[in-house]
Amino acid sequence: MILLDGKKTSADLKVEIAESVKQIKAKGGKTPHLAAILVGTDGASMTYVNAKVKACELVGFNSTLVDLPEETSEETLLNEIKKLNNNEDIDGFIVQLPLPKHIDEQKVLMAVNPDKDVDGFHPTNVGRMALDLPSFLPATPYGILELLERYKVETSGKNVVVIGRSHIVGRPMSILMSQKRPAGDATVTVAHSRTKNLKELTLKADIIVAALGIPEFLTGDMVKEGVTIIDVGITRVNDTSKKRGYRLAGDVDFATVSPKSAFITPVPGGVGPMTIAMLMKNTLLACERKN
Ligand code: GUN
Repeated sequence: MILLDGKKTSADLKVEIAESVKQIKAKGGKTPHLAAILVGTDGASMTYVNAKVKACELVGFNSTLVDLPEETSEETLLNEIKKLNNNEDIDGFIVQLPLPKHIDEQKVLMAVNPDKDVDGFHPTNVGRMALDLPSFLPATPYGILELLERYKVETSGKNVVVIGRSHIVGRPMSILMSQKRPAGDATVTVAHSRTKNLKELTLKADIIVAALGIPEFLTGDMVKEGVTIIDVGITRVNDTSKKRGYRLAGDVDFATVSPKSAFITPVPGGVGPMTIAMLMKNTLLACERKN
């Protein structure tokens, strides 16, 4: 069993990005600048956004955090987006999800200038991705592709089962891995809450991407020997033995699945850190495209 070490791989990536930034600056180029909008005080969202800001510092980007209260109106948020769209110094920005219930998420994502949409959530970028055109790839799927590539996991002609059809992970993952591309060329099945014969499907899978958000859902009896496991889940589960009162659980029961796996991502330290590194990569790309 080989651990797909996202912590190490993302650290390598950040060193590579920092090197590119140094070269850009040495030539008198513009310092990449990422902005993040956070609405409200959701604990996980605050942690993620802070990690993104910290990553910017590490690679030598400028960063701006637009921190808005929970009760922010949709109109105010759309206005903040407009400001970032028009701000020449900002190369890319993200609106951290989920948003408070009174705000229409789709409307918000549509308001982001696709050229600054480093999350790759705007319909223009989703469409371009689906058509194999240059676009910003959503950071989590992009990070998974990067992990598979760097660890030389064979995907061509393999049976991949993606569990989950979310717009952020499952859907784009299934599209990308079926495409003619590195870490692609796979035969992909998308399973979801209405799938009837899930275990039959997972038992035939060479690669399983678990992205359904149910802690420890995928168990050892559901996978074959030699499988590659990508665990996208990261749920806070109450745990009074921990000082902070919770532990982070993936969608995969690591104890029973890992002994049967050729490759597996741990939680934490697998997919999560890759997501942030790929956001940095997209921001660098946005800056390079613009300048
Ligand atoms: N919430 C969970 N994942 C993501 C992500 O990749 N981007 C944003 N903006 N919000 C998220």
